[in-house]
Amino acid sequence: MYRIASLPCDGIGPEVTAEAMKVLDVAASKFDIDYEIVDYEIGGDRYLRTGDIITDAEMDELSKMDAIYLGAVGHNDVKPGILEHGILLRLRFEFDQYINLRPVKLYPGVPCPLRDKGPEDIDFIVVRENTEGLYAGVGGSLKTDTPDEVATQTAIYTRKGTERIIRYAMELCRKRGKNNSIHCVDKANVLTHGHDLWRRTFAQVGAEYEDLTKDYAFVDACCMWFVKNPEWFDVIVTCNMFGDIITDLGAMIQGGMGVAASGNINPEGVSMFEPIHGSAPRHAGKGKVSPLAAICAAGMMLEHLGQVEAGKAIEDAVIQALGQGQVKAVTGDEGETQKAGDIIAALVAG
Ligand code: IPM
Ligand code: MN
Repeated sequence: MYRIASLPCDGIGPEVTAEAMKVLDVAASKFDIDYEIVDYEIGGDRYLRTGDIITDAEMDELSKMDAIYLGAVGHNDVKPGILEHGILLRLRFEFDQYINLRPVKLYPGVPCPLRDKGPEDIDFIVVRENTEGLYAGVGGSLKTDTPDEVATQTAIYTRKGTERIIRYAMELCRKRGKNNSIHCVDKANVLTHGHDLWRRTFAQVGAEYEDLTKDYAFVDACCMWFVKNPEWFDVIVTCNMFGDIITDLGAMIQGGMGVAASGNINPEGVSMFEPIHGSAPRHAGKGKVSPLAAICAAGMMLEHLGQVEAGKAIEDAVIQALGQGQVKAVTGDEGETQKAGDIIAALVAG
């Protein structure tokens, strides 16, 4: 029996989560998976009403779940940063979800903005370090709102943190068995301390993986190649900030935010799954956004829980529906969110 926490949170989060839960339910009956969803009202509305973001009691409960499913964070009436730090980053950090897995895969039938590139060219995975770097929150401000204002934001890279993410990415590359090719994406030509640590660690860990082709790419050049030669990539390992940025570009070349899913993984702890899109408040409540990213995140969650067949069935249903033009990867007309969820659910049910 799996216990899964559901945190739909803000904006379009609840409407895409509802479709993901619908598909999860169908997959669970089909594959005989016993599970329970525990709903949490965490999000901007509750914060504005009560001042609570996540209570200690809730953190304690969440720490005992088999997985966490998250919709989207960010509320129009809450200053940017509060909910992002208080919910998403807090969960990633406190549960030490040090791996952020972000597959970039163009499914057949999905329009790609790159001319002459198709599904055979765009199929790689970004392994984003998820607990360090510029996200560590180290820094401070002085003389705020004066002409002499100073602000610092320091990136933190530890040997342990760098090594464990690189090792995970190398193992994943082997397991994928695509091109056995892994890129370390960094900015070692400028960040001569932090990203030197990354490069030396990549070389040291890489020595244990003779079967893999190891390469480096500067992050700016990597952006160029995502557009020019995405077929070069198989597995990418990168720091937190660069992983954040390049996966928005990755989402665009795979057909948009409407299809990009992710997992925040702690192999020994509680992991969390979410679409990579935000809460898009201006679209909220209209049922017009694609729930496919959210649905694919539910599929990733099942795979992570060991329900590989069920997870694959969800991805296959999404692939089939997109391929046959039954659903679209981008925002549509009002009511399409639910329609898309119904279509995927029916395909999973078979
Ligand atoms: C993401 C988001 C988050 C991040 C924000 C909402 C804190 O952009 O998951 O990519 O920067 O990691
Ligand atoms: Mn992002």
